[in-house]
Amino acid sequence: EKGGYASFMLKEIAEQPKAVADTLLGRIDASGSLTLDELRIPPGVLREVDKVVIVACGTAFHAGLIAKYAIEHWTRIPCEVELASEFRYRDPILDPQTLVVAISQSGETMDTLMALRHAREQGSRVLAICNTNGSTIPRESDAVLYTHAGPEVAVASTKAFLTQLVACYLVALYLGQVRGTKWGDEIQDVIRDLSRISGAVEQVLHTMEPVRELARSLADQDTVLFLGRHVGYPVALEGALKLKELAYMHAEGFAAGELKHGPIALVEEGLPVVVVVPSPRGRSVIHDKIVSNIQEIRARGARTVVIAEEGDEAVVPYADHLVRIPVTPTLLQPLVAAVPLQVFACELATARGNEVDQPRNLAKSVTVE
Ligand code: M6R
Repeated sequence: EKGGYASFMLKEIAEQPKAVADTLLGRIDASGSLTLDELRIPPGVLREVDKVVIVACGTAFHAGLIAKYAIEHWTRIPCEVELASEFRYRDPILDPQTLVVAISQSGETMDTLMALRHAREQGSRVLAICNTNGSTIPRESDAVLYTHAGPEVAVASTKAFLTQLVACYLVALYLGQVRGTKWGDEIQDVIRDLSRISGAVEQVLHTMEPVRELARSLADQDTVLFLGRHVGYPVALEGALKLKELAYMHAEGFAAGELKHGPIALVEEGLPVVVVVPSPRGRSVIHDKIVSNIQEIRARGARTVVIAEEGDEAVVPYADHLVRIPVTPTLLQPLVAAVPLQVFACELATARGNEVDQPRNLAKSVTVE
């Protein structure tokens, strides 16, 4: 069943290019327009939406955090992202103009289900992004956009995460399309790049040996920190979550700009810090800022693991370990940047003798609140 792989997780990591391509299949036509007829929410209703609220847990929540950047940038609709387990207990402001997006691989997560029920009681429309046909969350939603990752067996989510991102990008672009957001060159470029992105994911997978070697060399560490900015911040959170659940290590993700507000006090000689670097093109201001963040932590003894785009030379002098990822549009970078972090956590956990498919204390779907 594992198709020759040592674990389901390794198999599922390797399946990501196909999962991404399958999730896009039939949803972008030859002219570069999106066809999401399955959404079933009439375009008239989508045009009236004045707020998007994303609810999800764990890895799916991280996909939601990334979606916020895309939705707000491409559609200018305000977007909030909330942990499903917190959502209904704080009396959130919801009405029929609010589009609630519930993201769940299993479709059975109780926290997410209760959040969407609460949203529907307040009259909001709920769109599910889900990987499991006919599961409870899509059944109870107004509409569903299925991710086509195929069955995900390992407890740690990998291919479902990448396809959740793809689905979120599609929803964001589709909202822009039906609302007639000015369809500039950027959007056309993004749609074109999205339709080719599975090749970039494949490319990353072919360059992972140094990441595995590095992971093995860090097996005795107690702590690993992850830093990112912009969409790289949720990627950092996801990298830390993977390491916690698989390697049982203390791992934390921070927004790099927050370092100076506290976390930099954690940095000491030899501490591994993984940094997800945004593209030097486009948002070059944050790129420059993160380069100074890398300098700052390195000056305090951190062992820096830098994940940066091909051709980004500014990071080279400060990287103890450099992991190259293909050039992508800024907002799509998580699709390639998350992959080395999955491989890193899987290899490190294996080196520590842990069972990667079935980590202690965890279940694949969490059906209790
Ligand atoms: O099935 P769901 O997507 O609703 O699950 C949500 C989380 O429980 C899940 O992503 C969890 O965080 C993973 N084990 C992370 O790898």
